[in-house]
Amino acid sequence: MKLFVDTGDIEEVRQAAEWGIIDGVTTNPTLIAKSGHGFKETVLKICELVPEGAISAEVVATDYDTMLKEALEIHSWHPNIVVKVPLIENGIRLVKTLSDKDIQTNVTLVFTVSQALLAAKAGATFISNFVGRVDDISDDGMVAVAKSVEMVETYGYDSEILVASIRHPLHVVQAVEAGAHIATMPFKIMSMLFKHPLTDAGLKRFLADWNDAGLSIFPK
Ligand code: G3P
Repeated sequence: MKLFVDTGDIEEVRQAAEWGIIDGVTTNPTLIAKSGHGFKETVLKICELVPEGAISAEVVATDYDTMLKEALEIHSWHPNIVVKVPLIENGIRLVKTLSDKDIQTNVTLVFTVSQALLAAKAGATFISNFVGRVDDISDDGMVAVAKSVEMVETYGYDSEILVASIRHPLHVVQAVEAGAHIATMPFKIMSMLFKHPLTDAGLKRFLADWNDAGLSIFPK
């Protein structure tokens, strides 16, 4: 499964990139607004920090003509940019246009398998199924993820299902169980994936026994 970090914070991207395990970064208008920096400046810095990654940057217009202009502008900034588009009617129309131009897209704010079907038919590169916002209203967001994975694989669509709006590490586990292609998550959640008390206790014991034995890797 590919791992993306969901942030507009350059320092978070820098730290995650150092781990050598991230395959991309997703941003959205809220995350860019929180960054306190300009949109193009932030996205280009992220492209520099994750040179092999897929970097999602979102249009903000809702009328087709302006969405297309914004998409072509964003696309022009860097070859690794994936144009992020909301799942609205003009968004699906735009994804079809961009797909026909071989421009990669990430369809966002997807909550149902029927929405995911529309995105896949339009040629979306990534389909961002949101889970946390569904869980936030007492439902199970992962259900649509599993159905969307089955849908793209049943019909042979090239789209990859990207689990988004992740609230905790269990969502990552559930994304794996659902066979999702990608999970994007806040840096804090990605950091939590490393943690287990038995790992900490085991390492502590290893090092204590090693030191008690007065051993050294390097010649003394
Ligand atoms: O960036 C897309 C998605 O991951 C945002 O999720 O619900 O945490 O704002 P959320």
